[in-house]
Amino acid sequence: MNRTRIIPKVDHILHGGDYYPEQWPREVWDEDMALMDQAHVNFASIGVFSWVCLEPEEGRYDFGWLDDLTDLLHKSGKMFCLATPSAAQPAWMSRKYPEILRVDPDGHRRKHGNRVNFCWTSPIYREKVQTMATVLAERYGGHPGLAFWHVSNEYGGECHCDLCRGAFRAWLRNRYQSLDALNEAYWAKFWSHSYTDWDEIEIPGHPHSEVAINGLTLDWKRFTTHQIVEFFKNESAPLRQHTPEIPVTTNLMGTYGGLDPWKLAPHLDFIAWDSYPGFIDRPMEVRDWVAVSFVHDLNRSMKHQPFLLIESTPSSSNWYPVMGLKRPGMHFAEGIQALAHGSEGVMYFQWRKSRGSQEQYHGAVVSHDGSTETRVFKQVSELGKELSELSDLRGATTKAQVALIYDWENAWAIEAAVAVRVQGKNYYATAIDQYRPFWEAGIPADIVDSDQDLSNYRLVIAPMLYMLKPGVADRISNYVKAGGTFVATYWTAMVDEASLNILGGYPGPLRKVFGLWVEDTDGLHDSIRVAIQAKDGNSLGLSGRFEARQYCDMIHAESAEVLATYGSEFYAGEPALTRNSFGEGEAYFIASRNDEAFATQFYGHLSRRLGLVPALDAVLPVGVTAQARAGETQDYVFLQNFSDSSQTVVFNKPEDLTEQGGGMVGATIVLEPFGTKIFTKSQCRQASEPLSR
Ligand code: GLA
Ligand code: ZN
Repeated sequence: MNRTRIIPKVDHILHGGDYYPEQWPREVWDEDMALMDQAHVNFASIGVFSWVCLEPEEGRYDFGWLDDLTDLLHKSGKMFCLATPSAAQPAWMSRKYPEILRVDPDGHRRKHGNRVNFCWTSPIYREKVQTMATVLAERYGGHPGLAFWHVSNEYGGECHCDLCRGAFRAWLRNRYQSLDALNEAYWAKFWSHSYTDWDEIEIPGHPHSEVAINGLTLDWKRFTTHQIVEFFKNESAPLRQHTPEIPVTTNLMGTYGGLDPWKLAPHLDFIAWDSYPGFIDRPMEVRDWVAVSFVHDLNRSMKHQPFLLIESTPSSSNWYPVMGLKRPGMHFAEGIQALAHGSEGVMYFQWRKSRGSQEQYHGAVVSHDGSTETRVFKQVSELGKELSELSDLRGATTKAQVALIYDWENAWAIEAAVAVRVQGKNYYATAIDQYRPFWEAGIPADIVDSDQDLSNYRLVIAPMLYMLKPGVADRISNYVKAGGTFVATYWTAMVDEASLNILGGYPGPLRKVFGLWVEDTDGLHDSIRVAIQAKDGNSLGLSGRFEARQYCDMIHAESAEVLATYGSEFYAGEPALTRNSFGEGEAYFIASRNDEAFATQFYGHLSRRLGLVPALDAVLPVGVTAQARAGETQDYVFLQNFSDSSQTVVFNKPEDLTEQGGGMVGATIVLEPFGTKIFTKSQCRQASEPLSR
């Protein structure tokens, strides 16, 4: 059985989004229902920030409007998720219980206002949040239109109040048991940093507080994640208790660094995330779409099941420096892209544009004109129609033979290290460098953190795995020993989980796996390039010259074969790329941040060597990707052009494919800019077989 139904009560692809009708008079609600039908919208997220409307004064609830709303949606054939409103507490609450307000790193307690302006630790806030979840669960848990619970909104940020500081100290005590152990982990004799009492420990991170102890910096981030997870458990407990059959989730934020989502994922029934790509400082380019795919894959991999794109913008956002509108075709492409990578729907923020306040200019399906004759409304409707024809896709899974490790604690450790490139270490960019060739080849990839089981993958790539958490080195060694292929890059295995350096030569416990040790890293200024030269007759078949930038590790090959060497600088002739046989498998080491041509060729050779199966047997031109999901009896193949010019795709086996909705496929197809084609394909290959190496 290939299907995983993440939202059992829904029997279609979700299309809809954040709906806040409490902003509008009732006649608008009726109008909304009709407009939703027109836009093929079948789902609404409600109540996300509705606390003051639900509890206008302490202990006095007003559910009338929500009763009406839930009934109206249901009567109009729409399902909904109901949020707990904890992301925005009412002003009366902040006034009465100032301890719930968040404290900034400089020690100032914030005033009431904005949102996500609460303390993770405050017992009063936790109690308030739990009471609200209880009354919502009691009242709406049995509603036939309720599909899942949407807990809070975008958990994030830190609180530096005394309660949080006290909880941090207690957490440290529990982690280290003794101050000696903590001081050892913090290498605290340096600069006389040893603590002699737990109460001496301050929250790090503000320029006026401690920034010099990397272990402490990491622990604070770990603690904040821990505190958020505990907050979530407290908030969701009544939902689980009253409605064990209704899934519970929250909306995650992609690669947002303030919360390690892998720690929250086990507590969620399915993963949902908010995607707002691009337009940050320039128009979207293909590489940015590749990055969106990466994050979709990450969200799918967190539970190895479909996920939900729970927020995106129907047109533009209002928090980018420049608010560009989506170019023709982009909206459709963006929605289908989410599906291609495993989403069970496309949801927006928000349905109807607010008339006032912070987000009155944020893109919405219905704008201030209230018209259906807008580009945005038409584009949303067009996508909605397509989604309504894809119900069968629900629950279809993705089989990846490749995993790429992207790890939050590792990211924090890299960021904290005062080393080689203090600004712009480019961990995320390095991950995208390795991911792109697979995207271009249409080879599906999972994105996992370093704690995951690797044994089902044929190829595992660990860009800049600077930190080895406990057990990781053994897992990698065993994986390679058993026949796996592993790729690492510059800045691998330099510290342990406390950010203490590994002694005796990097990559420490992985030295035998890679057959080399790393002596030093040359940090290059942005304008500098170093030549890389493939060695004649190397066993991978790599050929030609490439360019490296930013990082050049200087390595000593021991048992490793040198596949390429540096071609310039004082380390010319020294190894730049190596391959080592270890047990039944092999381990590659890429010593420098190389150009795209290198990654394309290197991973191309590796993919052929390992016989990795692409989603589509075709020649994919630049900017075009193919992704696949395996349903019960057939595969769905999504072919998408993310470039702004037309591209021709040549199929090797068009006879295997049927166009979505029926129709034979010719030998070639022309995809318009942002053009999408969906095919089905009968399952004749490994899709349902277990992977073997
Ligand atoms: C986030 C929030 C939404 C909205 C959007 C705007 O995703 O969850 O409430 O503010 O951003 O892009
Ligand atoms: Zn606090």
